[in-house]
Amino acid sequence: MEPEIVVRSDLNSVAREAADRFVAIARQSIVAHGKFTLALSGGSTPRALFTLLASSGYQGQIDWEHTLVFWGDERCVPPDHADSNYRMARELLLAWVHIPEGNVHRARGEINPEQAALEYEQTVRREAPASTGIPSFDLILLGIGPDGHTASLFPGTPAIHEQTRLVVANFVPKLGAHRITFTPPLINAAAHVMFLASGADKADVLRAILEGEHKPDLLPAQIVKPASGQLTWLIDRTAAAHLRS
Ligand code: 6PG
Repeated sequence: MEPEIVVRSDLNSVAREAADRFVAIARQSIVAHGKFTLALSGGSTPRALFTLLASSGYQGQIDWEHTLVFWGDERCVPPDHADSNYRMARELLLAWVHIPEGNVHRARGEINPEQAALEYEQTVRREAPASTGIPSFDLILLGIGPDGHTASLFPGTPAIHEQTRLVVANFVPKLGAHRITFTPPLINAAAHVMFLASGADKADVLRAILEGEHKPDLLPAQIVKPASGQLTWLIDRTAAAHLRS
């Protein structure tokens, strides 16, 4: 399936487009198989989306009772740390919606990274629906860094080439730290993968990812090619500025 590329005027418009799609996918998933299994991304871009989803205009449109929330990656910090992706989503979204605690599955960044990855993979395998042996998330949200990383698949790191594990502890030399991350097999098994990108600092890397040669070691976001799911890029005009098409 060809990627869908949607350009909107600014980050707020991207967030609104993402929220509308989020609601639609949630409804379809719950009708189809009784639950909506979702993985959130970290970083700053999704903040506007999370705030919108928590707003009165949206939160009632989602059946949070039947929504399971995971994270596509997590920093190796405690859940109350300023860098925690879990903390950001809880503060901006999860604290404002009626989601049962048992539906929220964070990676334990506060323990040994390898142990946290093994544990999180077990949780994913237990909780997320799998028809082909690999759990298929209904929706995985992703962002991209200016260096082309997505989730915590950073350029030149081993996790890019992982073909067996679904979650790994990936040491990132440029950060001098481990990250817990979904691997390409798990991401590419999703029914919908949605990238959000905003800002002029993403214009060059977006052009390289979408229109340049395939070199996933340098541009890990290129490794995201859902086997049968829909890949969508929701980007704002500044991030799309260097795209030819
Ligand atoms: C993380 C994210 C990461 C993020 C990109 C983009 O844990 O940081 O999951 O992959 O999506 O770094 O971050 P911004 O949205 O802040 O540009």
